[in-house]
Amino acid sequence: MESENTTRQAIWKRRIHEPFITAALAVALTAGFGYGAILVASLAFGVMPGSWYSALVQAHGHAQLFGWLGLAVLGMGLFFMPRLRGVSLQSSQRLPYAFALLVSGIVLRVAAQPLAGWFAASAFAGVPRAAMLGAAFLEAAGLVCIAWMLMATARAAKPLKRDAPAYPVEPFARIGFVCLALAFFLNLLGTWNAFTESRNVIAARYDQLAITLMLYGVAIPMAIVFSLRNLPLFLRLALPPRNGWRKLAAFYAFALALRALPFLVAIADDGLVFTGRVLSANYILVLTVDALAVLGVILLNACILIFLWRLDLVRRRPPWTVDRAPDTRPDLEYLRKPTRAHFPDYGEYGRFEWLIYSAFAWLVVAVILDVLRALPGVNESIPIPQDAARHALMAGFITLLICGMSVRMAPGFSGKRGVTHPDLVTWLFGLGNLAAFLRVAPAFFPQSEFALMLWGVSGFIGWCAVLVLALILWRTFR
Ligand code: HEM
Repeated sequence: MESENTTRQAIWKRRIHEPFITAALAVALTAGFGYGAILVASLAFGVMPGSWYSALVQAHGHAQLFGWLGLAVLGMGLFFMPRLRGVSLQSSQRLPYAFALLVSGIVLRVAAQPLAGWFAASAFAGVPRAAMLGAAFLEAAGLVCIAWMLMATARAAKPLKRDAPAYPVEPFARIGFVCLALAFFLNLLGTWNAFTESRNVIAARYDQLAITLMLYGVAIPMAIVFSLRNLPLFLRLALPPRNGWRKLAAFYAFALALRALPFLVAIADDGLVFTGRVLSANYILVLTVDALAVLGVILLNACILIFLWRLDLVRRRPPWTVDRAPDTRPDLEYLRKPTRAHFPDYGEYGRFEWLIYSAFAWLVVAVILDVLRALPGVNESIPIPQDAARHALMAGFITLLICGMSVRMAPGFSGKRGVTHPDLVTWLFGLGNLAAFLRVAPAFFPQSEFALMLWGVSGFIGWCAVLVLALILWRTFR
């Protein structure tokens, strides 16, 4: 009993990523990819979408963004970010409560919303709607606990100097956390609004802004932080230049604010209900806001491309190891086991680099689709579904990057020297990419029965990919 307690304490102190990643996988395997698979398969089988459909879509989106992405980022981030500032997570005795609040909130929301949609017409519908509101409060309370710990950690850390490893990436981490907090707050506002108006789905102005914040405010900035700090080492790349990142972060935040403007105007109108929809009724204001939002999309994607160029995944510059101090005992070189060519490991993480490279290839696809959709005139001649552009980012970039980074980083966080089944990583790469391709490409052929059939299996294949990741990580943690 005592040893069980000690293990539990050790997990919450030293292996905090494990419960978060385990919960992220559990949410992804049930409501995340599970609901996604049901949605696409039911449409492919010709089931007519009823009031349940949009409720299930939002429950799926919530599970994927707040559960799969949010919990994975928190799990890796709460372990990694404090260490980047030379401290461990402070006030960590609050962590189990934060975790319990967040996870119970997410579980309640993704269980209640489909029920609210299913029983929309019955007298019982108020109960799941109230549960959705309760869930939003639980999630917000969990995030307040996390914010408390991060503020205590920031106070305990030494002042950030220019030569500190965290200096270039710190503003991106700030953007990530502020946007995560805003997304939870918007979710609470939107759920309150839906509850008071007796609706089963959150109004688009709250829902779409929360999605934009989770994607461009949390996922991309955190990917920049993790990539700049880790990929030069894991993939033996050139060290990225240290200067210019803080300016890029400021520019990125400005572009994100422009992109969010139309939603902010719609939400501001909500607060002006007594005087009517004054802002969205003003034609000149709406045109200006829309033009600024297009500018925001272009600038935001330009920042992403600048980041990719400077990260130098295509190895334009020689790896950082060429400047390494010469070996003190070159005569003993023959005793050392050679690493894989171009990588510092021996294959104990499988072909994790395939996951990372394909994730970034999907990011380029998502950037192109997003800009083409925003450019005036282009979307009318080549229709690009928003759903396809977004899933290139979500099922392609985000999911494959979470897979690649967790396979490479999580074993080290848990004190292990590799994953238990490196060969399964190749399966993960194949299934993950196939799922993303089948989720995105068929959306461009809405008239084709064959495309609809392929689209219909994408969810199941994505689910299998996450199952493979779960097998790899659960066995590794044990
Ligand atoms: C292959 C796996 C996936 C399948 C089959 C799938 C399926 C779907 C479907 C059918 C929709 C509704 C589209 C519509 O009617 O407009 C949807 C929306 C959405 N999906 Fe996925 N999805 C997958 C992966 C993901 C991933 C990995 C994420 C996030 C990391 C994600 C996040 C979302 C979001 C945010 C929405 C919009 C929800 C809303 O409007 O509130 N999906 N997905």
